Amino acid sequence: MRQFNNILVTGGAGFIGCNFIRYIFEQTDYSGNIINFDKLTYAGNPESLAGIAAQHKDKYTFIHADICDTKIVESTLEKYKIDCIVHFAAESHVDRSISGPAEFITTNINGTFTLLEAAKTYWQDRKDVLFHHISTDEVYGSLGDTGYFFEDTPYDPRSPYSASKAASDHIVQAYKHTYNLPVTMSNCSNNYGPFHFPEKLIPLMILNTLGKKPLPVYGEGLNVRDWLYVTDHADAIWKIITQGTIGESYNVGGENEWKNIDVVHKLCELVAGETSEPVDSYKDLITYVTDRPGHDLRYAINCDKIKNELGWKQSVTFEEGLLSTIRWYIKNTDWIKHVQSGEYTKWIEKNYVER
Ligand code: NAD
Ligand code: TYD
Repeated sequence: MRQFNNILVTGGAGFIGCNFIRYIFEQTDYSGNIINFDKLTYAGNPESLAGIAAQHKDKYTFIHADICDTKIVESTLEKYKIDCIVHFAAESHVDRSISGPAEFITTNINGTFTLLEAAKTYWQDRKDVLFHHISTDEVYGSLGDTGYFFEDTPYDPRSPYSASKAASDHIVQAYKHTYNLPVTMSNCSNNYGPFHFPEKLIPLMILNTLGKKPLPVYGEGLNVRDWLYVTDHADAIWKIITQGTIGESYNVGGENEWKNIDVVHKLCELVAGETSEPVDSYKDLITYVTDRPGHDLRYAINCDKIKNELGWKQSVTFEEGLLSTIRWYIKNTDWIKHVQSGEYTKWIEKNYVER
């Protein structure tokens, strides 16, 4: 087992990053420090870690900064003697990457480069350090009705988001091959769970059902995604950074494929069970809207490698995960109010076109 003393988590105020930090404090025996480095874009909310910050004052530090800022990245690595970087920070929403790709290129590509360069300079030839890069299955492109993405599937990104993630993955690989930087990488399927910014399918549909607002389904709703509960992803990342083979990439997935329209129907049924409203009062809200340009048809991950090599497996069923997510959104009204009052609301009004 590799051990670290000072882990830098970039993007730790976002959806997966905050769940990962919570997972480390609550479900591992890690006794070192966590430094959360986050720019707090519209998607970053430090409130998601308020409890952790209060409970672990001596072990948890928050730094409000941009991963593209070379000086502050360099000084943070030195000041906190960082020996592991877990890199989540990114612009992450495909629809935003279509309407405004510039920020995706800057943060996802230049930001990753800035971190790698600073890590190379600070770590020199050390081998007791690790740069773990979080990526997505979307870099592999779009599948037809059959087949799976494997670790050696050729990259074929098709949206500005997935292209920027693919570019960052390649730069990470270049630092491994050229400079022998100790890196690991993971490519994961769609996550869901608490603290998910409500522009993505599952939290958006939950909040719109609860608020009796239209449920915007793109195209015919036949696109397929493979859903994984976010703490199962956190567990996979922990296994990779502590036990994964240096230089390797691992695919992580839910083995849980659903057509979008079926996810929306399932959510309507589960929300109806929680609110005692008739299920049709929710299903009637389904509104088919203009399809996303270049909408990838199907993603499906083969994750045998991480299962066989590291003994990882999914632990939360879709039904359990959706129920606990719905209950979380019903309970955490302040968190929702705070994230909904931002720029997000204006963006969503501008971008949804009913058909
Ligand atoms: P998110 O959008 O919820 O959070 C991103 C976080 O990064 C936010 O806290 C934001 O403030 C921060 N950030 C953005 N730009 C920054 C910058 N320049 N400097 C510092 N911080 C910055 O995203 P997420 O869903 O938590 O995704 C995290 C990572 O996981 C991303 O790299 C994403 O590509 C990858 N991923 C996500 C999914 C998914 O289903 N959400 C699946 C696979 C991989
Ligand atoms: P999303 O959560 O944005 O994740 P990604 O695009 O990274 O897979 O979308 C998941 C699927 O749901 C995708 O096929 C697009 C679709 N979708 C809708 O039909 N309606 C919506 O309002 C959103 C946000 C997504």
